Amino acid sequence: MNQYKEMVAVAIAAHVPEIDMRDISTMIETPPEAHMGDYAFPCFRLAKTMRKSPQLIAEDLSNKITYPDIFEKCMNEGAYVNFFFNRKKLAEEMIDQVLAEKEFFGSSKEGNGKIICIDYSAPNIAKPFHVGHLRSTVIGNALYKIYSHLGYTCIGINHLGDWGTQFGKVIVAYRNWGDAKAIEKEPIQSLLDLYVKFHEEAEDNPVLEDEAREWFTKMEKGDEEALSLWKWFSTETIKELEKIYALLGVKFDYYTGESFYNDKMEPVLRDLADKNLLTESQGATMIDLEAYGMPPCLVQKSDGSTLYATRDITAAIYRKNTYDFFKCLYLTDYSQKLHFAQWFKVIELMGFEWHLDLLHLPFGRVTHEGRRIQTRKGTVVLLDEVLNGAIDRVKEIIEEKNPNLENKLETAVAVGVGAVVFNDLSNNRIKDISFSWETAFSFEGETGPYVQYTHARACSVLRKASEAAIGQSNHLDGQFLTDDISYEVIRQIEQFGDSIVDAKNKNEPSILTRHIIDLAQAFNRFYHDHPVLNAEPKQRNARLALVAAVKETLSTGLSLLGIQAPEKM
Ligand code: ARG
Repeated sequence: MNQYKEMVAVAIAAHVPEIDMRDISTMIETPPEAHMGDYAFPCFRLAKTMRKSPQLIAEDLSNKITYPDIFEKCMNEGAYVNFFFNRKKLAEEMIDQVLAEKEFFGSSKEGNGKIICIDYSAPNIAKPFHVGHLRSTVIGNALYKIYSHLGYTCIGINHLGDWGTQFGKVIVAYRNWGDAKAIEKEPIQSLLDLYVKFHEEAEDNPVLEDEAREWFTKMEKGDEEALSLWKWFSTETIKELEKIYALLGVKFDYYTGESFYNDKMEPVLRDLADKNLLTESQGATMIDLEAYGMPPCLVQKSDGSTLYATRDITAAIYRKNTYDFFKCLYLTDYSQKLHFAQWFKVIELMGFEWHLDLLHLPFGRVTHEGRRIQTRKGTVVLLDEVLNGAIDRVKEIIEEKNPNLENKLETAVAVGVGAVVFNDLSNNRIKDISFSWETAFSFEGETGPYVQYTHARACSVLRKASEAAIGQSNHLDGQFLTDDISYEVIRQIEQFGDSIVDAKNKNEPSILTRHIIDLAQAFNRFYHDHPVLNAEPKQRNARLALVAAVKETLSTGLSLLGIQAPEKM
């Protein structure tokens, strides 16, 4: 918990023995307006036991209370006890802390090494990696970093869609119309073309669908020709995927896709049978979920082939046995809600208590020009098109505005990719996003490049100043940072850690994007209003220290979102 909130809780607890200290901490609020102080304790809940009006209790408490000198005063307003920071002290403490902790600022040991499995990205081989998969990738990657910052041990898993009937389709299409050279050259695009072609042809010739099913069954039975084609399609695709991940700076601990569970499903099916959970219908095997208001969970088709759910159930059991996770998070769009609800229920029915630790984190869909992104009809915006488009756009801007910049290419990559990632993460997870080239590439307003530019501006101020004087507490006099504009910046820094915890509790990286936008805006107001390099020596020193603290906080914030913070741009 936030160190200052904790101090408030301790001060209150000394006079309110009837409420548990932990409860008190959760009751403390951050007031919406400055005149209400920096932290507030509402007294409504005490009225009953103390038999006094909440106002009187608040008044009484604020008179009696003793608090540490990081606070300047404590006053009641209505039913609230409001605490006001001593601005000078807070400025000194916060800046010292940021400059000492650097990239660890806002970190904690709350996770105590507990294991969090994160299942994210998971594109389907032989289908494109589209902007819809981008959401899973970047949200998962940000959560990985946020949880790690809070002391959890994360395991990133790419549950690639590398098994299933779509391979039967691609094999049939390849054997009919395929071109090996095209696949080697542009695997994702050529396999997608084959997939689309298959669906076009199958409309007039439904026999193709049967052939596709047969080929997938062959794969499951270990047929050599089927498997070697499958292996080749997968390897070529993964090579291309890795280029995209490299551009995004995303890594996985394991690339254990669906195929990884092919030889692990049988014991699970047996266990399901032993637990009397299986029913048959028209030759297919399923778990009846009617009692839970859900359609049955299909685990085996009549031809013996397994399904997406069979592999998810198997994967969860494997992960629990292998990693003994504390939580296992799954990132997909919300159209898969039922799928997850169904198989989570199956895990529960199997008697595994840890079903409660499986968390589906659905996110909104991405539409493009009002249409859903769909594979079958071939209307997709491919991710590498988007990323390379953004990078090219930034290159042009750099040529125009800052042609002498060193490392132009690296900067263009950092900013172009950062723009796309930030755009994606700044949307509330569950909201649908309509993808537009303009918003994704916008460099003004509440965007990634705006934050990156603010960071680069702070770096440039620091370069110009003499390094030696920055941030040594004996030189830093917080008295020069007590005006409202400077204080707003300090307060944003002070609340940074809370936003990280909040983002983790809600599995919502947009809380952090919001926070660093607010910090960047507060800093730009400060920079606009307060001369730094030309200020009086003591004032200059204090302001420079604040600039340094902002720089550290912004770069830590960006890095927790998986975004680079170039020093020059
Ligand atoms: N491959 C799936 C898709 O693109 C996502 C997989 C998500 N992870 C999982 N364990 N089901 O829709």
